[in-house]
Amino acid sequence: MIKKIKSIRGMKDYLPSKTKKICFIEQTIIKILKEYSYKEIKLPIVEHTSLFKRAIGNVTDIIQKEMYTFLDKHGNNVTLRPEGTAGCVRSVIKHGLIHNKKQKLWYYGPMFRYERPQKGRYRQFYQIGVETFGYDDVFIELELIIILLKIWKKLKINKYVTLEINSIGSSQDRSKYSEKLFDFLKKNKNFLDKKLKKKINKNCLKILDNNSKSIKKIKNVPLLKKYLNVFSKKKFKYLCELLEKFSIKYKINPYLMRGLDYYNDIVFEWVTKKTNKNKQTICAGGRYDTLTKILGGSNTPAIGFAIGIERLMLLTKHISNKKKCFTDVYLISIKKNDRTITFKISEKIRNEIPWIKIITNLNSSKLKKKLSLAIKKKSYIALIFGEKETKKNQVIMKYLNKRIQKKVFINKIIKKLKKIFKQK
Ligand code: HAM
Repeated sequence: MIKKIKSIRGMKDYLPSKTKKICFIEQTIIKILKEYSYKEIKLPIVEHTSLFKRAIGNVTDIIQKEMYTFLDKHGNNVTLRPEGTAGCVRSVIKHGLIHNKKQKLWYYGPMFRYERPQKGRYRQFYQIGVETFGYDDVFIELELIIILLKIWKKLKINKYVTLEINSIGSSQDRSKYSEKLFDFLKKNKNFLDKKLKKKINKNCLKILDNNSKSIKKIKNVPLLKKYLNVFSKKKFKYLCELLEKFSIKYKINPYLMRGLDYYNDIVFEWVTKKTNKNKQTICAGGRYDTLTKILGGSNTPAIGFAIGIERLMLLTKHISNKKKCFTDVYLISIKKNDRTITFKISEKIRNEIPWIKIITNLNSSKLKKKLSLAIKKKSYIALIFGEKETKKNQVIMKYLNKRIQKKVFINKIIKKLKKIFKQK
């Protein structure tokens, strides 16, 4: 027997039983983004590796361990995008979209990270991301948080998630702080687990932003907030005040650093509330005011976030896949010879009454079986094409829920169906 080809570890198929729910989630999010005048940008999945190295930072897990990088046929070093921000910034610089202009953009698509797969963590996963350019006022942070809160409410998951915020200041603040933290962790390294010990010399800031409990057990760990510049402190305080004014619940997480290097000042994550399982981040973002310059553009304030669709799916078990699955008209051909006229009329209906949902069944199975399939699909009307009727230019119209049937002239079908299914 021929060996079946397996799918790649961590890369899922989404079968029709799931796609309806994903589509509902996407559309819910996109509708809210459109209401706030965010515009879609479509970006390539493959970019030059140097883009991600420069944007995300060399000493990050993504760059060091997780990228799908390869040489293309011309020997160019390219990478499947691990996230959307870098590509978006590259694009807005290239096309002059941020030249004296503000932008509010969103994108949707697959991202790739070579991580160890587990529930909610895959090697191909989907993000809906938002990036804004040209907004430096803290009201944009507030807007993004309110948008996300609206999305959670609409998806009825607001009670399962918490907003965590922090300020990570400027890169100068972080390098001063990093020295202090490095000395402190060296002195206390015996408290750290094996994995974290290895990270001290690489990038000690990333030790804080870690799910490992060992760091949380060490007392008196120096915190970044003491090393923040006045401007960053003020901005963070103002955001906290605004969140309170708008009655938005939040938690300051002084350990929140983010795993990508391009951020400054305010960063945030929406995490699932701890049940018996570990908490999971469903959405993350923050300000990255220096990235446009780093990637060759002019200095432009920027802030954004990305929602992990798979993690959202895990939280939205209450949304059913089977909702509203109705068919308006189910067309059936009785014999082989009736198939052409059945197909012809189904196309005519599709063209002239595009708002109704129709299924055409040209199978060779028995009429009884085809009718029971029509009922299973919750069809309202079955149109049955048999030789006897079509010879007289007629068709049987059967109301499946009323058990009524009548003969209708084929040239009157469209008029009749239009009357039954008036446009919503
Ligand atoms: P991130 O924290 O790397 O940030 O990813 C954002 C979200 O994508 C995560 O919170 C999570 O929900 C989801 N995610 C990440 N990795 C995986 C995975 N392996 N499997 C499933 N879901 C995953 C970014 O990507 C930034 N670009 C966000 C951003 C946009 N910041 C500013 N603008």
